[in-house]
Amino acid sequence: MPESRTTEYTKHTENIHCEASAPTFCIGSVPVYGDAILAPMAGFSDLPFRAICREMGSAMSYSACITDVAVVHGGERTSQISDFLEAERPVALQLLGCREHELLAAAEKLMEQGPDIIDINMGCPARRVVSGGRGSALLSELSLAGRLIRRLVDRLPVPVTAKIRLGWDAQSRNYLDVARLLEDSGVALIAVHGRTRAQQYSGQADWSAIAEVKQAVSVPVLANGDVRTVEDIDRIITVTGCEGAMIGRGAIGNPWLFARRSVADVLWPERLALIRRHALWMVHYYGERLGVVLFRKHVVKYVQGLPSAAQVRPALLACESVGDLFATLEAWTPEL
Ligand SMILES: Cc1cc2nc3c(=O)[nH]c(=O)nc-3n(C[C@H](O)[C@H](O)[C@H](O)COP(=O)(O)O)c2cc1C
Repeated sequence: MPESRTTEYTKHTENIHCEASAPTFCIGSVPVYGDAILAPMAGFSDLPFRAICREMGSAMSYSACITDVAVVHGGERTSQISDFLEAERPVALQLLGCREHELLAAAEKLMEQGPDIIDINMGCPARRVVSGGRGSALLSELSLAGRLIRRLVDRLPVPVTAKIRLGWDAQSRNYLDVARLLEDSGVALIAVHGRTRAQQYSGQADWSAIAEVKQAVSVPVLANGDVRTVEDIDRIITVTGCEGAMIGRGAIGNPWLFARRSVADVLWPERLALIRRHALWMVHYYGERLGVVLFRKHVVKYVQGLPSAAQVRPALLACESVGDLFATLEAWTPEL
């Protein structure tokens, strides 16, 4: 990372605290302080957003998924997905793969960046991913999944973890078999999204199935699916008995969740200050054009739920420069 970028990030992340007390749980030898963690989300959980969430209290960072072959063949976009700040540690870099040789080569290349953990994505439902045998396709290929994990565990100097769904569809909810196999293969943590591949992101996440996984294995388990409020964080941990809650969509536009603050208590000036900081960081990281385009989907979530947000939404989605974006926000004051 160029020196100027490092300095800038350091300035933005100086509030990320260093913990001195006992860890909440450990992933192998890696201590984790805290029980709420931002979920990996392609297109959202990039370095700026992860660092903001970490600063608010997310206990570690997961990169979005990166395909093994993309890592091996390089490219700026791929290295941006796996780029992280020291202040984000512990950091898990997440890989999609299904062939031993390619997956190991990709993991070894990612290791050059010094992640604390390598996570294997066994939940991605996207057709182009599963048609290549990756992501949630591995839920139906247990012996292959076991071989892949064992090979990584044997060869990598860091803990290997996995993120799963409950199964391929309602007829094959094999989450207990998958979890036991992963534990036997040496994973140091399992994150469970309480839906099947067929459900994609709809329907209600099944927290009781996640509780069964927690009961079935002795490695730490993260519970994931439908955590949207501070109360949900405590509820999912109580219901499942898991070490922590992994939060995806509920954190977009609401990183205050990690500070255990209700978004309703975050008044407009404070929201606006964070929107501005996040936007500037995106522009700094991606350049103005791409940064603003990528930030649009965050900003509409930051204003969602505020009175008259529907009126400003089209203008926010049309912004092409950070000047436009700030002017649009300045001209709009939510009617409170
Ligand atoms: C836009 C988007 C991108 C996602 N990308 C990833 C990913 O890269 N890796 C992964 O393991 N899960 C990914 N997920 C799944 C989330 O990590 C999480 O399991 C899912 O959204 C359920 O949690 P939630 O109800 O808190 O959103 C993605 C989800 C969304 C909505």
